[in-house]
Amino acid sequence: STYQVGYFVGSLSSTSINRVLAQALINLAPADLEFTEIPIGTLPLYSPDFDADYPPEARALKDAIAASDAVLFITPEYNRSIPGALKNAIDWASRPWGQNSFDHVPAGVIGASVGQIGTAVAQQSLRGVLSFCNARQMTAPEAYIHFDPDAYVDGQVTDEGTADFLRGYISEFRDHVERVLTVLPRNA
Ligand code: FNR
Repeated sequence: STYQVGYFVGSLSSTSINRVLAQALINLAPADLEFTEIPIGTLPLYSPDFDADYPPEARALKDAIAASDAVLFITPEYNRSIPGALKNAIDWASRPWGQNSFDHVPAGVIGASVGQIGTAVAQQSLRGVLSFCNARQMTAPEAYIHFDPDAYVDGQVTDEGTADFLRGYISEFRDHVERVLTVLPRNA
């Protein structure tokens, strides 16, 4: 059997290094993980006024999470937190009250930055949000990626050490998803 992984890229940039990282991870992932991007760029800004009648983009977001066995966040750091677009998507998915899409969902967090600390502060912020949303996060290994553009060519990682690290991360994520789903089956 395979595990469906819905992934979020926290950046709306057309040249996002986090999207490059996402593609590299997908190419290094175990064969039984299948990846689908969950888009966040066309969502309106969340307001409780929508709770009675979600717009199509927000319904699609919640449906995509429901169809996923696990979620993976690949995000930049913006001003030592996560980008507003990603927080907005999480807020949409967490509502209406009582219909939190992340409840008990296996989740992973990773991100790339041109800066030296590799999105560490953003990831701590994201983990707090996902913790409140009751997602089942993989807490180790952590992955703070200092992005070297020369190490990525056409979705492949040319630097062997980086490739080994990312392969290990996504392999551990697969095992985490399997462990969580053993006690908390989804889409059964
Ligand atoms: C940044 N950047 C950044 N980098 C970082 O390491 N820590 C930070 O707090 C910030 N803050 C920040 C705020 C804003 C508004 C922008 C636009 C950028 C730099 C950031 O890491 C860089 O732009 C990456 O390329 C963003 O990732 P994507 O969009 O390329 O995936």
